Amino acid sequence: MSAALAVRHDEERASSIEDLLLELSMVRGVDEILKTLREHARPLIGADGITVVLRDGDKCHYADEDAISPLWKGQRFPLESCISGWAMLNRQPVVIEDIYADERIPHAAYRPTFVKSLAMAPVRQDDPVAAIGAYWATKRRPAQEQVDTLLRIANSAAVAFTNVSLVSSLVAAREEAVRAKEAIILAMASLAETRDNDTGNHLLRTQHYVRALAEACAERGLYAGELRPGTIDLLFKSAPLHDIGKVGIPDSILLKPGKLDAAEYEIMKTHAELGRAAIENAERHLGTCTPFFEMAGTIAHTHHEKWDGTGYPRGLEGTGIPLPGRLMAIADVYDALVSERAYKPAFSHEDTVAHIASERGHHFDPALTDVFCEIAEMFRAIHDRFVDVQAR
Ligand SMILES: [Fe+2]
Ligand SMILES: [Fe+2]
Repeated sequence: MSAALAVRHDEERASSIEDLLLELSMVRGVDEILKTLREHARPLIGADGITVVLRDGDKCHYADEDAISPLWKGQRFPLESCISGWAMLNRQPVVIEDIYADERIPHAAYRPTFVKSLAMAPVRQDDPVAAIGAYWATKRRPAQEQVDTLLRIANSAAVAFTNVSLVSSLVAAREEAVRAKEAIILAMASLAETRDNDTGNHLLRTQHYVRALAEACAERGLYAGELRPGTIDLLFKSAPLHDIGKVGIPDSILLKPGKLDAAEYEIMKTHAELGRAAIENAERHLGTCTPFFEMAGTIAHTHHEKWDGTGYPRGLEGTGIPLPGRLMAIADVYDALVSERAYKPAFSHEDTVAHIASERGHHFDPALTDVFCEIAEMFRAIHDRFVDVQAR
């Protein structure tokens, strides 16, 4: 090879090994690591075959290979009985010029293969999780450059394996945090709920009504800018917190069997502010503002506002009332009316729909009331699905 050609050859090799290293730094799963090594490692090393061996407990798993003829892909051997196991257990690379002259090689496993010489490098030397082997069909001492390339690839694979395990533990931790958050929210919400209602089904029903109503609006193009799929999911998840402020209302008022007098009603009304304050407090502890808490706070604060401005706590009017509060108002009133309470019997579905329709433009957003009337049967079905046991 001329000097100029040799330089170009080296440059090409250098650029493609850089490509391989870059690719390894970006993989997101073990399968991608295997694929990247299978597709690129052998020509870079200049070997007749390569294998990628994963440590699987006390076994070596020959997970993938690229070779001139088949090696051991898919097979598992005890760590002690193969050379990849030796490299992992001893945390060091090994180069073997004549495999049949080396005691560490299980000769029977090699006899059906082309292999005469090999080099093996552990992946992650401090705690090997894998090994990469390079094999030659003719007896030889691999060049130092070839061994160095194998070691570079093994070191990059080590970073890739570490990244993959970090990403998967991050994903698991995030999923765990989401599950914990949802469980705590429901626990918090049911605290408020169980004090004035024996079952938690009001929470379940109202969240389903709100979602059904929001989806029906979105389908009709009503408030489309405010009702994206992510927002509807957020509405659904945060709706159970709408009455969280009731934990701050004394039993004598919250559990009073008859109608509240004016002074008691004023205290009852504070649950909207109390709820928003509790959620804001949780948000402060969290140290960050999340769409979930913002939505939950809005619903807790505004679900008793009325379209005509006669609601509480602020007396907001029309579209000055945030949409989540306007949706929740219909869901909450529907459920309160069709359910039996200590201070009132259950109204029929038909009477409840008629009442809500009569409050169009007074208590409720007129456009939302129209959609509610169209899909009222869905409200009935949700109520029947999550019916209170004692009401049967
Ligand atoms: Fe309320
Ligand atoms: Fe409620």
